[in-house]
Amino acid sequence: MAIGGEPLLLVGAGKMGGALLQAWLERGLDPRQTFVLEPQPSPQIKALSSVYGVSLRAPAAPPAVIVLAVKPQALDESMPALAPLAGDTTLVISILAGKTLAGLSQHLRCAVVRAMPNLAVAVGQGMSAAVANAKVTPAQKQTADALLSAVGGVEWLSDESLIDAVTAVSGSGPAYVFYLAECLAKAGVEAGLPRDLAMRLARATVEGAGALLAHQPEISPAELRESITSPGGTTAAALAVLKGESGFERLIANAVAAAKRRAQELAS
Ligand SMILES: NC(=O)c1ccc[n+]([C@@H]2O[C@H](COP(=O)([O-])OP(=O)(O)OC[C@H]3O[C@@H](n4cnc5c(N)ncnc54)[C@H](OP(=O)(O)O)[C@@H]3O)[C@@H](O)[C@H]2O)c1
Repeated sequence: MAIGGEPLLLVGAGKMGGALLQAWLERGLDPRQTFVLEPQPSPQIKALSSVYGVSLRAPAAPPAVIVLAVKPQALDESMPALAPLAGDTTLVISILAGKTLAGLSQHLRCAVVRAMPNLAVAVGQGMSAAVANAKVTPAQKQTADALLSAVGGVEWLSDESLIDAVTAVSGSGPAYVFYLAECLAKAGVEAGLPRDLAMRLARATVEGAGALLAHQPEISPAELRESITSPGGTTAAALAVLKGESGFERLIANAVAAAKRRAQELAS
């Protein structure tokens, strides 16, 4: 399904809102039907506005779609000004971590989809999970699906309570992988490599491993790992350390649990 064609208002064009806007415009969103509300537009947003002709103001009439991308902490303060922008037939897509459909529906009487994308939407390889409230029509669900799938994969959830765990795995996940690249580069320096070379190797390794996962979806990450781990070899020596007591698996589980707890705190 094509994206755009109906008026869309983006509220909050920071890191995620800006990334979504740019990716949607590059993939055919109609700039004449696109509106952005952002108190301090970044140079990127100003450039998108001038290159594509996107309006940095609210539309005159309620739009078909409002994408809510302010920080969760800014929601309550923003709502009195934002709620009147939604009409009865508007679909609101919220990407706010921790903000529930019930909480959003206290302010909005229209259809609401709660989605959790990640920053890889910027390169069309995002991963989003989404859940709809009872007011979302099949056509509105298709609209939300078209917008989210234009910038990556989409998983529709029937159980909203899963979304805090989704946030902790795929929403925040790119940061964990960036940190892995950072740590691998630092370890390379400790192992004697020049800093620049270590960083180039770490980046390329994360990119290449990601591409292998993407190109062979039928092979599990564990099988890929085992396929390059010869008994008694160098990879096995490193994995013995990573798999040690309170090793990588426990550390990642604790990190995901902390992110999930924080998402739950933001909801209350
Ligand atoms: N970053 C991620 O990887 C990621 C992933 C998934 C979901 N999310 C969700 O995406 C949302 C945005 O995150 P972010 O990282 O993009 O934050 P961000 O960079 O701080 O962007 C939020 C933007 O909204 C603006 N804003 C605040 N109040 C507004 C209002 N009333 N009307 C219009 N714009 C307003 C902010 O302006 P000021 O700076 O002037 O306040 C800021 O530019 C969050 O709710 C987060 O949970 C983020």
